[in-house]
Amino acid sequence: MSNWMLGAVLTIGILFSSACREEEMTPCSIQDKRLVDGVDFYCGNVVDLNRMGANLDYARIVNTQFNSVTAENIMKPAFLHPSENLFHWTEADQLADYCASHSKRLHGHTLIWHQQLPPWMLNFRGDQTAWENMMREHIFQIVNHFKGKVSSWDVVNEAFNDDGTLRNSIWKKNLGSSYLEKAFQYAHEADPAAKLFYNDYSLVINPVKRKAVLSFLNSLKAKGVPIDGIGLQMHLFNGFPENVEISNAIDEVWKNDYLVHISELDISINPFSQALDKAPQEELVRQAEKYLYIFKTYDRIHASYKFGITIWGVGDRDSWIRYFYNRADFPLLFDDNYQPKRAYCKLIADL
Ligand code: XIL
Repeated sequence: MSNWMLGAVLTIGILFSSACREEEMTPCSIQDKRLVDGVDFYCGNVVDLNRMGANLDYARIVNTQFNSVTAENIMKPAFLHPSENLFHWTEADQLADYCASHSKRLHGHTLIWHQQLPPWMLNFRGDQTAWENMMREHIFQIVNHFKGKVSSWDVVNEAFNDDGTLRNSIWKKNLGSSYLEKAFQYAHEADPAAKLFYNDYSLVINPVKRKAVLSFLNSLKAKGVPIDGIGLQMHLFNGFPENVEISNAIDEVWKNDYLVHISELDISINPFSQALDKAPQEELVRQAEKYLYIFKTYDRIHASYKFGITIWGVGDRDSWIRYFYNRADFPLLFDDNYQPKRAYCKLIADL
């Protein structure tokens, strides 16, 4: 081979391999097309105003790609209601103002849960009437404060165990199982226009739990309790649940006449907590396919049942999975530097 031919081959080789490397790092760029343009339902994320202020890339993604917002933590009881006679609105009000000025829907998360409760609530003492008044005041003040700004609420979060029984939370212990219907009624009294949701995890992978939740909520709805929809959290893995389980769960929920909110979507790639310093390419490819499957499957349900899909985090560095489960993981649409991952690019290209 002559010198120039060798040079040409080497140059092409270098160009080709750097193009591949480039392609691996940034499979597409955030251009004119926006995620929300490809779908006819609300597409949301958890938004942190501190991160918005600190990182332009984060802010650009939130501003352009999503039209619905959930607060990851600042609208939970421990933050909004830190002591019995004190409500703390500052950060949540700022988020509500941001949503109003940027035409984004704000979904409230969450009124009644067994986690992230303020200590005073955990230590509350009183008979059933005192508990009822306390719960009513908690729900009423919060929903009333955000009336007209928050369009929907996760009224009750994670009330069921995996075997389909009711979790023995402080609410169940002190109010019995009727706390759920009361919570929905109080929220409805405070804002009759707000859409009210029951939200939970494992409703896709665990049909026993899903059926128990549906039958419990159906019996409340039959009595006239105002429940509009069900939030399927969907903290999933590349390998499970199977796609068919996902479509079965979505179908079962709307067929029971509930709005469907895929409320906390993320897709983990490291179920066995391996030591990973970056995401393996083949897992990113599988992850992209799974995201696309979920969006397409959701999109085909009737418009009147679509409340939207909310992703639980913007860049992988923000994901709760890393610190909550203490494992390396890469479950979101954007990487640690807020560059698009294959999953984002596939949604943009194929929706
Ligand atoms: C998580 C947040 O993402 C974390 O920042 C926080 O430390 C714990 O809660 N199900 C829910 C969400 O309903 O509120 C949880 O959010 C994730 C699981």
